[in-house]
Amino acid sequence: MKVTAEFVTSAADASGFPSDDLPEIALVGRSNVGKSSLINALVAQRIARTSAAPGKTRLANLYRVSRGNAGPLYLVDLPGYGYARGGHQSAREFKDLTRAYFENGRDVSALLLVDARHPGLENDTAAWNWLQQTVAQTAIVATKIDKLPRGQRIRAMRELESVFEDSVLPVSAVTGEGLENLWNLIERLANSRNPQPRRSRSSNSSSLPPKATAARPPTK
Ligand code: GTP
Ligand code: MG
Repeated sequence: MKVTAEFVTSAADASGFPSDDLPEIALVGRSNVGKSSLINALVAQRIARTSAAPGKTRLANLYRVSRGNAGPLYLVDLPGYGYARGGHQSAREFKDLTRAYFENGRDVSALLLVDARHPGLENDTAAWNWLQQTVAQTAIVATKIDKLPRGQRIRAMRELESVFEDSVLPVSAVTGEGLENLWNLIERLANSRNPQPRRSRSSNSSSLPPKATAARPPTK
C-alpha cells in the first residue's frame, strides 16, 4: 500500500505541537529501543535519524504520514528514556518534553516500544504505568524481534504480555515482520479517538480544547 511521509517539525516544547486536529501516534520507549528505525520502516523511507549510540533523538520530531486511502496522521518520535550518558539534565529534558506532550490536553495515542529481548525492565514498566494513567489510547510493541531465534519468541512474548498485562505486538524494523499489523494498530488508534469534542466538523474553534500557551519559542 502506498505510504507518503514528510518531516514536519522538531518540537522542544508545547508551542511546537500540532494544532490541526489530525490523529497523533507517539512512539515512547528507552533510548536505542528502535523508535526512529520503526518510523523509517513503517514509511519505507529514511526520514528519521537513527544511531547505534543511544540518545540520538532529543526533540519531539513530527512526521505527517498517510497510507493508502486512510486519512493523514502524525507519527511522533519522542526522545528515549534511560540514556545514562546524557546525565540528569537529559533525563529531565526527556521527562519535561514527554510530560508536556502528553499532558497538553490534546487527544493523542501512545505506543510504548520495549525490546523483545528484555521483558519487564523497571523503567519500561514505570513508563507503561504512567502512560496508562495519562494517555487515553495506549498499546505496546516489542521491537527487534528478529534478534530472537524462533524458538525463543513465544516464551519472550508470553513473558512480555504477563509483565504488562496487555497484548504486545512483535515487530522488526529490519525484516519488516509485524509492520502490517502495526499499521492496523496505528489506524485503529487513530480512529478511536474521543469523538467529543474534537471530531466536530464545525469550524467553531471554541469546540477545540484549550491550546497550550506558548511561553517561549523552541530553543533549538
Ligand atoms: P534514541 O533516538 O536514542 O531514543 O533511539 P531510538 O529508539 O530511536 O533507536 P534507533 O531507531 O536509533 O535504533 C537504535 C539501534 O537499534 C540502531 O543501531 C538500529 O539499527 C537498531 N535497530 C532498530 N530497530 C531494529 C530492529 O528491528 N532489529 C534490529 N536487529 N536492530 C534494530
Ligand atoms: Mg531515535
